[in-house]
Amino acid sequence: MVEEIMIKPGVFYYPEYFNRTIQEEVRDEILSYANELGWFQPTLPRWGTPFSVKMLNYGPLGWVSDKSGYRYQPTHPENGAVWRPFPLHMSRVWSSLNDGFDSPEACLINYYHANARMGLHQDRDEQDLSVPVISVSLGDTALFRIGTTDRKGPTQSLKLKSGDVLVFGGPARLDFHGIDRIYPGTSTLLPEGGRINLTLRRVTQSAG
Ligand code: SIN
Ligand code: MN
Repeated sequence: MVEEIMIKPGVFYYPEYFNRTIQEEVRDEILSYANELGWFQPTLPRWGTPFSVKMLNYGPLGWVSDKSGYRYQPTHPENGAVWRPFPLHMSRVWSSLNDGFDSPEACLINYYHANARMGLHQDRDEQDLSVPVISVSLGDTALFRIGTTDRKGPTQSLKLKSGDVLVFGGPARLDFHGIDRIYPGTSTLLPEGGRINLTLRRVTQSAG
């Protein structure tokens, strides 16, 4: 049985959605992928300051950021390799929780080491903002914060653990959100510790 908790309208939390066996399968796929292609180091547009997370993508369109800006592209920004297709469990979570929406085109993989964080931001680089974003957590627990469409609006915090899934869409699709901190040593899933987050998104507007 999948437990569904509504955090607020448009934000749904599914604790321990993926069991340990599936978490290990997804982890192994990501680690072999990273071994083959290498993580890329995103940097802030204009200034070129590195993010504290490293990244990879699955799917036809991957989210990248460098000096020239944020964008989606089919290839790894540092070596030009085409992204691998979505892993089975990622396609499945989309069809289960985003049933009826167009298929996902991007799955961003963020790797957080113990001191990494993600400042409050909106996911707004997609043409189609009617489709909810699905976020999967693996490894160490993280303190996630979500607010409103106003950067200075009130926020709620939630600890995301390994195997948890969060969906945000509808009235919350453009809410500011981020990761305040990682709790090191809270999971044994990743051999080097830290946390992996996978974010699944629809990018383009479908014709129909
Ligand atoms: C993100 O919003 O890009 C990542 C959120 C997370 O790591 O849970
Ligand atoms: Mn985001």
